Amino acid sequence: MNIGFIGAGHMGGAMIEGLLKAEAVAPNHLYVKGGSSGTAEKLQRKLGFQLADDYAAFQECKVVFIATGANIVLSILKELSPFLGKDCLVISVAAGHTVAQAQEALGSEKYVVHAIPNTPVSVNEGMIGVVYGSNLPEAEKETAKELLESLGKVTEVPEHLLATVGTVAGCSPAFVDIFMEALGDAGVMEGLPRALAYEIVEQMVLGSARLAIETGKHPGELKDGVTSPGGSTIKGVAALEKNGFRYALIDAVKQANS
Ligand SMILES: NC(=O)c1ccc[n+]([C@@H]2O[C@H](COP(=O)([O-])OP(=O)(O)OC[C@H]3O[C@@H](n4cnc5c(N)ncnc54)[C@H](OP(=O)(O)O)[C@@H]3O)[C@@H](O)[C@H]2O)c1
Repeated sequence: MNIGFIGAGHMGGAMIEGLLKAEAVAPNHLYVKGGSSGTAEKLQRKLGFQLADDYAAFQECKVVFIATGANIVLSILKELSPFLGKDCLVISVAAGHTVAQAQEALGSEKYVVHAIPNTPVSVNEGMIGVVYGSNLPEAEKETAKELLESLGKVTEVPEHLLATVGTVAGCSPAFVDIFMEALGDAGVMEGLPRALAYEIVEQMVLGSARLAIETGKHPGELKDGVTSPGGSTIKGVAALEKNGFRYALIDAVKQANS
């Protein structure tokens, strides 16, 4: 099965890397069209997929991902549509449009999926919110699901929640990166070598996420399990609350989602 990509920037590149790593597609069956800055060409030298010069290259693709800037997605879909085979499945990962708008731009014979991933798809640990087009046959839904699941966890959500899923999953890696950097700085301030501080923080975040997933425990219960009476952790928790840590995160998501 041939797969196409239009846009190979931060998100497109992360998805391409994840799909190849998962062997969901072979490099000789993956056609990628980038913009004018040479980002796709640079990635091609690293990953070895097929570069597409124009939309004609997508004629034989069963699935085409759209990962360009959100503002140009609908006009790209309109231009692209005549080049696609009947029954082609188009998966847009762009924020800011509805499935109905994408369907209208493509015409009724193509199939549409709207998926909002996050950058950990490049290591196959993504979180992907998805809305399937209303005319999508079961076989196409399975194809989309299988491809997206090779990149991480996939959850189908009502369309009005997709943007918020995108914010909580898609923007938060940056918040977690800042959290890890700050904890690393704190470790350095307390005397740890910087590389060791980051190594400890990374494994701690990974382990905390795995513990939450594998035990299914409420985050508050997990926190209670670390805070012994009068101990050091509860003093740290109090300092976080005093400094507005919880509200800072709530406000970050609120601002990002507005
Ligand atoms: N970044 C995230 O974490 C994230 C999360 C969820 C969803 N998204 C969605 O993913 C989309 C892309 O975001 P991004 O962060 O990857 O942006 P980005 O890094 O700017 O990538 C967009 C890419 O589109 C390419 N492009 C522009 N016009 C094109 C055309 N006519 N044909 C082919 N490629 C074209 C650009 O190529 P040139 O640079 O060469 O011009 C650029 O590499 C957005 O719609 C965003 O809403 C992103």
